[in-house]
Amino acid sequence: MPLSRFPVTPVQQSRLSQVDFNHLGFGSIFCDHMFSMTYENGAWMNPQIQPYQALAIEPGVAMLHYGQTVFDGYKSFRGIDGEVRIFRPEMNARRLHASCLRLCIPIMGADELGEIMVQATRQLIELDRDWIPSQWGQSLYIRPLIIGTESTLEVRAANSYRFIIMTSPVGSYFTNLKKGVSLRVEDRFTRAASLGGLGAAKTAANYAASLLPGSESRSEGFDQVLWLDSNEHRYVEEVGAMNIFFKIGGKVVTPPLGGSILPGIVRDSALTLLRDWGLEVEERRIAIDEVVAAFSSGELEEVFGAGTAAVICPVASIGYKGEIYPVSSSPPGELTLRLYDELTGIQYGKLPDRHGWIVGAPVSA
Ligand code: COI
Repeated sequence: MPLSRFPVTPVQQSRLSQVDFNHLGFGSIFCDHMFSMTYENGAWMNPQIQPYQALAIEPGVAMLHYGQTVFDGYKSFRGIDGEVRIFRPEMNARRLHASCLRLCIPIMGADELGEIMVQATRQLIELDRDWIPSQWGQSLYIRPLIIGTESTLEVRAANSYRFIIMTSPVGSYFTNLKKGVSLRVEDRFTRAASLGGLGAAKTAANYAASLLPGSESRSEGFDQVLWLDSNEHRYVEEVGAMNIFFKIGGKVVTPPLGGSILPGIVRDSALTLLRDWGLEVEERRIAIDEVVAAFSSGELEEVFGAGTAAVICPVASIGYKGEIYPVSSSPPGELTLRLYDELTGIQYGKLPDRHGWIVGAPVSA
């Protein structure tokens, strides 16, 4: 049953005129409105749309100290026909739901959460329709966030929460499809525990763990960190802002979802498209030594990442134990480009949506 519309408090004065759509960057500009809902006395309540604004929270809020917070990220696109399309929001709702369960956040059912997210997103899009960029490669990034808001220093799940959905006009997360990114294999620090950790949840701790290695690798001239498993620092995991794929000897290999990596929605979409095209795809553990051996034997054809922010992103080089492996001198590779073109083609309405991934967001002119 469709939800009724959420009540809206509109902004007095839009900030849209301050936005330079030619220099959007990623996630530093937020649209005029946000969705808000609270959890008090055992129930989610008070869903509404209000002006984007600061949250008033006490310094004693446990979330600030112990990290009881989850988020997700999905995008909507202004298509070549002017229609606005949201990409697979129900998948993000399911993942946010799973993240809540892992972080002990009392959440409604996954379907109900999905309906709320789609309805809220549609209303935000309608209200802030002029914020949706129109250039290919740009989009409206949608960031749901749930935080514990109880003020207590006891280490336990909070008894009150705030659920926000904010939106942000964005450009590409990584600069340039033709340049690709350089990755440094991290063999000292770990993103997430291999067994029973938080790696599959979209929660602050995983990103906090990545800050020092990320900063070190940037100071060494790399763009991102390629994580290995926490037990042996031997098997490839993910890149933090994207899942990773290798094309080796004609087959595509990507690490399996074992609980330590993020179940990426673009990862799932890429796997579906690759299988549609009849490629042999393996979701299996892949040791970094296998990647290096494939590079040395000339069998490593392409490496690319897949993520909501990153889209499909070519990897130009990999650094490991002081060596640089130049995977591709002229990215993107053929398969990387085909995937990028197919995925963005669906997202911007240039290609048919054969898998039912698009949710429409009607906007009046
Ligand atoms: C996303 O792709 O939505 C992400 O959350 C990556 C982000 C941490 C930049």
